[in-house]
Amino acid sequence: MRVCVVGGGGREHALAHTFSRQGHDVVVTPGNAGIPWSVTDPVESIDADLFVVGPEQPLVEGLADQLRSRGRRVFGPGADGARLEGSKAWMKEMLARAGVPTARHASFAPGDEDRAIAFLSTLPGLYVVKTDGLAAGKGVLVTESLAEASEDARAKLARGGVVIEEGLTGPELSVLCVCDGERAVPLAPAQDFKRANDGDAGPNTGGMGAYSPVPAAGADTVDLVLTKAVEPTLAALRADGIDYRGVLYAGLMLTPEGPKMLEYNVRFGDPETQVVLPRMRSDLAELLSAAASGRLTGADPAFVDDAAVTVVLASEGYPAAPRTGDVITGLDEACDEPGVTVFCAGVAADAGGRLVTAGGRVLDVTALASTIAAARARAYAAVARIHWPGLHHRHDIAEEASRA
Ligand code: AMP
Ligand code: GLY
Repeated sequence: MRVCVVGGGGREHALAHTFSRQGHDVVVTPGNAGIPWSVTDPVESIDADLFVVGPEQPLVEGLADQLRSRGRRVFGPGADGARLEGSKAWMKEMLARAGVPTARHASFAPGDEDRAIAFLSTLPGLYVVKTDGLAAGKGVLVTESLAEASEDARAKLARGGVVIEEGLTGPELSVLCVCDGERAVPLAPAQDFKRANDGDAGPNTGGMGAYSPVPAAGADTVDLVLTKAVEPTLAALRADGIDYRGVLYAGLMLTPEGPKMLEYNVRFGDPETQVVLPRMRSDLAELLSAAASGRLTGADPAFVDDAAVTVVLASEGYPAAPRTGDVITGLDEACDEPGVTVFCAGVAADAGGRLVTAGGRVLDVTALASTIAAARARAYAAVARIHWPGLHHRHDIAEEASRA
């Protein structure tokens, strides 16, 4: 099959790497200087059997609809379904309609400042303030300080809508489900690390690392996510006339009272994809093509038992104000470590052809091995080979799971 991946980050590199590893022809548009299959052609001019749209922004803007209207086979929801990620307030409405339990919350519009702050003060001690629209994983404040939450709510309301909710605690779980409009098939679960610094300190980011499988989330947890959340949500979407063909990514928190839904994303997770796909044994292109065609019947994707760990290397200043243009060294040496693949996220080539940083999250160093502990050791051995001024990363990705 010839597959066109739309996007240019670590997730798209991992998607393309998987298609290529499984014997398919692949192009990535626009890709980046570190993704070997990158082309600069606009997606409309590319001929492929399957189009896979990586990021949420083009989905929310209707790229999948545009491609479908030209007769293309596309994996990715239309603008109607992508609203699940484009508006957190709408997502919460859909969760309520589908009967999916989530954190106590309320939505507010500009002008609602006083009501928003009154609602905040009814919450028990951990406050979450979310930008209603797209914010690249950075629109969420989680804080124990009511004063900080109130100030953040005021600032966000000056720019648009917000969702305020009670804070939940516990490790996170990402279950990416491949949907064909009617049916959903879960991929192997992964755990993402959202905070910038070790010990889950510091600001929220797009994700600083991940691992899969997740020993804390067995088949029963995945089943619960599928039957109690994803399937009812797909049914609620269908009732609204929305034919959702793409990834429905359920983001959960494993709280002391059991798993609770935080939210949906409408695409593959980044960096979860970088640990889920390297473990995939079944043919990814066949699976996504079946979903895109609305005929996912009987699909049951298989994964190797090996564990995967990915560590995200970030640039100076990420997430607040990432610096770009720093020269990256040691990439080849890192790739020579056993079991290691490095996915390129925010990279570019400078005038001399050297690889330089070009974004906040720069590289995703991924390792496979027979246990989480061994995969983690391999990933960090490779991380130690890579350098640029201001590089930072977490040191505790998968640490707890590797001890379990
Ligand atoms: P979102 O942008 O809604 O995907 O949220 C991004 C991240 O914010 C999540 O992955 C969590 O780490 C955190 N978060 C969101 N909602 C809550 C909540 N109710 N309690 C604690 N953390 C949350
Ligand atoms: N890793 C979180 C996300 O993709 O939204």
